[in-house]
Amino acid sequence: MPLLIACKGKSGFSAKNTAEDVTEGIDGHGLTAIITGPTSGIGLETARVLALRGVHVVMAARNLEAASKCKETIIKGCPSATIDVMELDVSSLASVTKFANEYISKGLPLNILICNAGVMAPPFSLSKDGIESQFATNYLGHFHLTNLLLDTMKHTTRSCGQEGRIVLVSSVVHRLTYKEGIMFDKLNDEKRYNVTCKF
Ligand SMILES: NC(=O)c1ccc[n+]([C@@H]2O[C@H](COP(=O)([O-])OP(=O)(O)OC[C@H]3O[C@@H](n4cnc5c(N)ncnc54)[C@H](OP(=O)(O)O)[C@@H]3O)[C@@H](O)[C@H]2O)c1
Repeated sequence: MPLLIACKGKSGFSAKNTAEDVTEGIDGHGLTAIITGPTSGIGLETARVLALRGVHVVMAARNLEAASKCKETIIKGCPSATIDVMELDVSSLASVTKFANEYISKGLPLNILICNAGVMAPPFSLSKDGIESQFATNYLGHFHLTNLLLDTMKHTTRSCGQEGRIVLVSSVVHRLTYKEGIMFDKLNDEKRYNVTCKF
């Protein structure tokens, strides 16, 4: 693990670097980003640093109260930050559709979509759509969200002449599937649900 932290990638950065290091000198004014799961951890820090660099940040959160508090905290540290909070429960396809429709109806551009919200090895449960909740949250909801916002991103790219970015925040644990890979026909089978990882 220490090797991984010290090792610089092609970008010249390593896991030792902060989001502020990586974005130093970058002017994000004129860009708009959606980030899911912005109320803690990686999402909150990403939202803070994007806002610090001038990006208009849309915090897509299921807990609006928590997101509003996070927004206030970021603005306290960076009064010029432009941040909106919108409701999104990424585990519910209906909520994703509602979020995307609302976003599109606002006529906002979209340069960066960061699919960060996630849950890790929760007890077995099904989402509102009857899909195993971890798969519904970490994968399906974000897939649906990306599909619904793709045209907005393409339109933004064409009008501003700058490539967009879709960032899927994931985990190395995705490598630890069953040897058959994802068994789509057994996804919702509680008996096959196994949250123990062997690194
Ligand atoms: N931290 C790590 O070491 C690590 C390692 C590998 C991968 N990752 C990945 O990195 C991402 C962020 O991880 P983190 O450690 O920063 O997580 P975290 O602190 O637990 O934050 C997760 C965020 O996702 C939100 N979220 C969860 N379910 C949601 C839903 N159904 N709808 C909308 N938002 C939802 C949470 O919102 P609430 O406040 O409402 O709960 C929270 O804002 C995740 O995708 C995770 O799998 C993290």
